[in-house]
Amino acid sequence: MSGYEARFRVWRGDERGGGLRDFTVEVNEGEVVLDIVHRLQATQAPDLAVRWNCKAGKCGSCSAEINGRPRLLCMTRMSVLDRARPVTITPLRAFPVIRDLVTDVSFNYEKAREIPAFVPPAESAPGEYRMLQQDVDRSQEFRKCIECFLCQDTCHVVRDHEENKRAFAGPRFLMRIAELDMHPLDAAGPAGLDRRRTAREHGLGHCNITKCCTEVCPEGIRITDNALIPLKERVADRAYDPVVWLGSKIRRWTSAP
Ligand code: SF4
Ligand code: F3S
Ligand code: FES
Repeated sequence: MSGYEARFRVWRGDERGGGLRDFTVEVNEGEVVLDIVHRLQATQAPDLAVRWNCKAGKCGSCSAEINGRPRLLCMTRMSVLDRARPVTITPLRAFPVIRDLVTDVSFNYEKAREIPAFVPPAESAPGEYRMLQQDVDRSQEFRKCIECFLCQDTCHVVRDHEENKRAFAGPRFLMRIAELDMHPLDAAGPAGLDRRRTAREHGLGHCNITKCCTEVCPEGIRITDNALIPLKERVADRAYDPVVWLGSKIRRWTSAP
């Protein structure tokens, strides 16, 4: 592919409002959308705000929407986009705009802080922990998360419903709760924490398994199938399985003073 001139429509503005601006920018072979944004800054719009760090799909900073789809600017090749149509670049829709393509994603950090951390087992010291390889593999899939928040941006529960943010932590953080609930060494129970209650309190019931979060995850994490659905099953087991219910009652009766 040789170089060509492409049309772009880039959202410019701030918290008071803004709109799409048209630009024509040179595109060269092998370039990604972030290269074009940088060329735009260098040649036509030096004050265009964009957040990025690694240009390698690992820092999660360059999240935006390309033709309306949540994507990483640095991992979207120009060659996958239709040359005949203008490429629209807009900020993440679920979060407040700071300026141009930069949004305020502090909602995500607030939710992260609300989730109680891993509780190490009292009976073994760091270095003595042992767990099955399949449990390690399960956690490691979730640990690939780069915190780009594309899943948070795309989930319909909050995408157009600011009012749901209070009660819904979003797929990234429900996945974190799932990871902790599945962790064989997490001593949350003895520490008085209940991961499944935390899941309910953070809006697991709002997720209706549309899987949009999984579709946009740049790390290919199977958020819905491997975290959210199993977590729902665990919560349902606790709440509705008569044997589990009876067991918990008996435990409560026998431990009563
Ligand atoms: Fe991004 Fe995937 Fe992590 Fe969501 S789970 S924040 S889409 S890497
Ligand atoms: Fe939202 Fe993902 Fe559930 S997109 S509805 S959290 S499956
Ligand atoms: Fe780091 Fe794109 S710049 S993920």
